[in-house]
Amino acid sequence: MADHDPGSKKPATQVVTGGRRKIWTGAVVNPPVWRGSTHLYDDVAHLREGLKSNDDGRFFYGRRGSPTQWSLAEALTEMEPGAAGTMLYPSGVAAISCALLAVLQPGDEVLLTDSSYDPSRSFADVFLKRMGISARYYDPLIGADVATLFGPNTKAILMESPGSLTFEVQDVPAICRAAQAAGIVTLLDNTWATSRFFPALEHGVDITIVAATKYIVGHSDVMMGAVTTHDKYWTRLRRIAQQLGQVVSPDDAYLAARGLRTLDVRLRQHEASALQIARWLKQRPEVGLVLHPALPDCPGHEIWKRDFKGASGLFSFELSDGDDQSRAAFIDALTLFGIGYSWGGFESLALPVDPAKHRTATQWAGTGPLVRLNIGLEDPDDLMADIAKGFEHYQSAQS
Ligand SMILES: Cc1ncc(COP(=O)(O)O)c(C=O)c1O
Repeated sequence: MADHDPGSKKPATQVVTGGRRKIWTGAVVNPPVWRGSTHLYDDVAHLREGLKSNDDGRFFYGRRGSPTQWSLAEALTEMEPGAAGTMLYPSGVAAISCALLAVLQPGDEVLLTDSSYDPSRSFADVFLKRMGISARYYDPLIGADVATLFGPNTKAILMESPGSLTFEVQDVPAICRAAQAAGIVTLLDNTWATSRFFPALEHGVDITIVAATKYIVGHSDVMMGAVTTHDKYWTRLRRIAQQLGQVVSPDDAYLAARGLRTLDVRLRQHEASALQIARWLKQRPEVGLVLHPALPDCPGHEIWKRDFKGASGLFSFELSDGDDQSRAAFIDALTLFGIGYSWGGFESLALPVDPAKHRTATQWAGTGPLVRLNIGLEDPDDLMADIAKGFEHYQSAQS
């Protein structure tokens, strides 16, 4: 196997080979877990030599990582054409917060999509506000018109496409073009698609973020975030992460790297199963809108068709004529779907979601209660049978 040759490999090959340098793996296949805080030097001269540079991939001290973390970061960088590097964080929220802190300073303004993940909103509304950084929200379907919102202090835009509750697909290239013309930095929460289905930097994004907790890890057993960027922002991103003491444990990095090896095949199965179930739901009398980016009900579906290479396994649907109580009866009756936060794991999950609560720039126009499904790797026929049973309980709760 070539030691480090990202070349032009296809995605399924990249996730298998990425970051597996011989100096990091030794004789085994996946880079082992290098646990350690102290890294030992040969002598004082060697110790002093170590202070002269701050490169990745060099032993220094545990907070700067070890081959286990470097290998994972390198694999994620290789998956994102145009990237200079990737920083790892102990959660997706830490990744989003640190990426924003890397590009904003007191007096600045950040624009966020109104469909933002709620903790991103609260970081902007509470923490950034305390630092003298203001936040304004925009309609996720705004496209190039985002330029009409730019003020003299607008310095960054945080996009999330599709939104993780309501799935509006944004015109990311148009927003990035407008931002670039005005010298504004663009950040994207790309957790839903990952670089596999939406290579963000190629579409004009400056800084791309994933909650690796979801599809990268893939097994619902590790929290992690990753931020990948090109040359212009790489040094700044890395410096801020180091100043804030961001580091992931080698054990977690090992598990994430192990998850990564199967990312391509998992995503393709999530995509196929979720699409099958979404199309089936669309035919059901109990269902109103099906908010799946690959289906026409979803706002921004045409943009999804234009820009994305695939769809992952998370989407929402509306129960027609239902209320909170009948929705709870439906979800409680499911046996193959767990009830819990997060997504991107191998197991299916169902969650009641209420987007209206989180909106300020737009109004959520849905008419029935929403259910968000994470379609896992179970057989879709079993999942549909489970949902059909849930609908019986939903009907009984209605009558
Ligand atoms: C779209 C999106 N971004 C970021 C996060 C945060 O990731 P984490 O839970 O790893 O902090 C989540 C978590 O659910 C999410 O759904």
